[in-house]
Amino acid sequence: MKTLTVDLGDRSYPIFIDSGLLNNESVWGSYIKKKGNVVIVTNTTVCQWYLNPLESAVSRLGYKVSSCILPDGEQYKNLDSFNAIMTFLLEHNCGRDTTLIALGGGVIGDLTGFAAASFQRGVDFIQVPTTLLSHVDSSVGGKTGINHPLGKNMIGAFYQPQAVVIDLDCLKTLPERELAAGMAEVIKYGIIWDADFFSYLEKNTPSVWNLDNEVVSEVVYRCCSIKASVVHEDEKEGGLRAILNLGHTFGHAIETYKGYGVWLHGEAVAAGIVMASHVALGRGSISTEEFERIRDLLIANRLPVSKPEEMNTDDFLKLMVHDKKTLNGRIRYVIPDCLGRASVKDDLTQSEISAAIEA
Ligand code: NAD
Ligand code: GLY
Repeated sequence: MKTLTVDLGDRSYPIFIDSGLLNNESVWGSYIKKKGNVVIVTNTTVCQWYLNPLESAVSRLGYKVSSCILPDGEQYKNLDSFNAIMTFLLEHNCGRDTTLIALGGGVIGDLTGFAAASFQRGVDFIQVPTTLLSHVDSSVGGKTGINHPLGKNMIGAFYQPQAVVIDLDCLKTLPERELAAGMAEVIKYGIIWDADFFSYLEKNTPSVWNLDNEVVSEVVYRCCSIKASVVHEDEKEGGLRAILNLGHTFGHAIETYKGYGVWLHGEAVAAGIVMASHVALGRGSISTEEFERIRDLLIANRLPVSKPEEMNTDDFLKLMVHDKKTLNGRIRYVIPDCLGRASVKDDLTQSEISAAIEA
């Protein structure tokens, strides 16, 4: 088993990465710290394969376990689902000693984390991510929340879990399109932080797609370790953490414009990464060869590399104003400084933005 720590003082927590962890009682025994109810929040898809093993392992330890099963989809990452969790917890007489377990992808993780932050002003929660995207990104770092019809992730809280338990076996049932979406966030780490990791991905993409255990476990470990370092430096996105949003300003606009769930988050981020890289190319921060390597690696991972045909620059600009990085009305973008480094820029010109979007 690979283990990492997110070092945040008295809110530090471990990340476990291995196969077969859902059934591993010792993990659950150590990290469910309170004696109260354990509530697994999951969805109608994930529950088919993964609810029983988890429920049984936790029940064998003597906990009272119940499961709140939500509809599946980004369009349900909203106040109605949040309210459904609150109602479930109250109907099951849950108190402050409750532990929530988020069993699912980023949607379930973000929703459950926000519910944990809010219920009775905060109860424990454990992230059990089941998609590649949630293995490498959303389960780590404590960003929790829900969408509003006017913008992605507009309501939420920073709230750290007690542990992140990554069972790599979950990837065996993941649809290919979802694996690709996860690879967009994986590739992001190479561009913003680690050029060697980017090269590793260029060599090992076929092995990821074959779910080669050694390669997948290395990829997940390296991504979580980069994310843990960034979150350790800047938990609440006062500065550095914003680089994790490479491609997200453009990407969130696509997701909101198309309607949540039509383009997957990772697909929209992939197109956004190409747009941000186009700006970097125009500024001479990356070479044509590096721009092509970025685009080609996204394509090799079956990801889109340009905007939806029907969206124009104005559509992007109207939606990007709502981005959480916007300061004093100025939209801020994460742009590569070179392959392996990135920073936030607020001086993009109108022509750079529209050239990147239309390219
Ligand atoms: P998701 O949670 O919608 O999961 C994708 C699909 O895969 C769903 O249909 C889900 O039911 C299904 N699924 C999940 N696990 C499965 C499995 N093992 N086998 C088969 N199907 C499975 O999407 P996601 O890509 O995991 O996460 C996207 C969400 O994460 C977005 O809402 C995004 O905003 C959020 N996010 C949050 C952070 C953060 O830091 N909190 C970071 C990145 C993304
Ligand atoms: N996924 C961006 C962040 O966690 O900050």
